[in-house]
Amino acid sequence: MQKAALTLLTTLLLGTTSHSLTADDDIAITSQRRSELLHLLKQDCGSCHGLTLKGGLGPALLPENLTGKPEPLLTATIYYGRPGTAMPPWQSILTESESRWLARRLLEGVSP
Ligand code: HEC
Repeated sequence: MQKAALTLLTTLLLGTTSHSLTADDDIAITSQRRSELLHLLKQDCGSCHGLTLKGGLGPALLPENLTGKPEPLLTATIYYGRPGTAMPPWQSILTESESRWLARRLLEGVSP
C-alpha cells in the first residue's frame, strides 16, 4: 500500500519534471481560463508590477524589459517565485503551463 503510493508519487514527480511542454499547452487553456489569467495578471501581478506592468515594487514586465530573458526562466519565476525576493510562487493558483502561457504573453506584449 505504502509502496504503491510511493511509486505513484515518484511517477507523478518524474512525470512533471521530465515532461517538456510545447506550444500544444496553449491549446489546452480554455478561453474562459485565459480571461481569468489576464485578470489575475492585472489585479494580482499588477499590484507589484504596476497596473500597466511598467513596474512598481516589482520590475517592469514589458517586452522591452524582458528582451533576451529565456521563457523557461520567466515561467519558473512565475511558478516557483524568487526566494529571497518579494516575488511569490504562484503554483497554488497556476499550473506550470498556465505560468508558461503568462510568460509568453509577457514576452510578446499584452495589455491587461
Ligand atoms: C508581492 C509582489 C509581487 C507580486 C504580487 C508579483 N511579483 Fe513578479 N516579481 C516581484 C519582484 C520583487 C520581482 C523581482 C525579483 C528579483 O529581484 O529577481 C519579480 C519578478 C518577476 C519576473 C521576472 C522579471 C525579470 O525581469 O526577470 C516575472 C516574469 C514576474 N515577476 C511575473 C509575475 C507575475 C506573472 C505575477 C502574477 C502572477 C507576479 N509577478 C506577481 C514581485 C511581485
